[in-house]
Amino acid sequence: MTARPLYKVEGGREYILRFKPITQLGHLFLLIGMTLSFITGLAMFFKFGERNIFDSLGLALGLPAPNTSQQLISWLHDWVGPILMLIAVVIVLVASDKKSGLKYITNVGEAYRVLVETAKYRFGKRKDYPPTPFYHPWQVLWVWGVIVGLLLLGVSGLFLVLEKWFYMYILPPWWRGFMSLLHIIGAFIFFAALPIHFLMGLFPTNWPMLKSQLLLRGYVEKEWWMAHHKAYAEEVLKKSGGGL
Ligand code: HEM
Repeated sequence: MTARPLYKVEGGREYILRFKPITQLGHLFLLIGMTLSFITGLAMFFKFGERNIFDSLGLALGLPAPNTSQQLISWLHDWVGPILMLIAVVIVLVASDKKSGLKYITNVGEAYRVLVETAKYRFGKRKDYPPTPFYHPWQVLWVWGVIVGLLLLGVSGLFLVLEKWFYMYILPPWWRGFMSLLHIIGAFIFFAALPIHFLMGLFPTNWPMLKSQLLLRGYVEKEWWMAHHKAYAEEVLKKSGGGL
């Protein structure tokens, strides 16, 4: 299969590659898996005695709640959600350009400089929006939040699943409490950051990106790039001979 060019002209419009469709498929798996685990995790956390907030849904669906709805929650939370997220991680690791990806998220100096310059722009201390690399500094923070959050949830979740489903008590009791704590910390990273990410994704400044070829083909029009990630766009245009 031929690699997608970073820059292309189609129908008289210029496009730059944002995310390959396969990487976006990984994102979709992550989104569905995380949402399932998230909602069912909340139901487990806010359980009132033997009842959980899904019981009325179970009853409305004709399930003999509370037991069936609790089983359903366990299956979705402990198996379906994590497996979908694991598939997502494998897809992203196999399909993405790891070298560039790592470069984008480890250049702390550049992220800090862009953050300071953006703040100056927001407070009227500079006229133009600063040239920004592939990821804005907040996006870099989000990527790290996702990596750390998924690691915490994954490692702690694995031990909790081994105990709950296979009765394998590998860890001493106080470690179990520690694993539960890690699981809750991981969950709260997403609890706090996911609504922000969700809203940012649907924010009006991102509509041109969502309306362009991003979702199916991975490309976004040059105008969006120049407005939001000018430093990266200029780098690509210079390399591929596109007009600046
Ligand atoms: C809840 C619904 C979600 C929506 C509407 C959404 C939307 C988006 C959009 C539009 C982008 C591309 C942003 C850009 O190219 O500038 C993106 C990127 C990304 N998403 Fe999501 N997403 C959602 C859920 C998730 C979940 C559950 C995770 C991880 C647990 C996640 C992790 C990421 C990461 C790591 C990126 C790349 C960094 C970034 O561009 O911010 N997303 N998302």
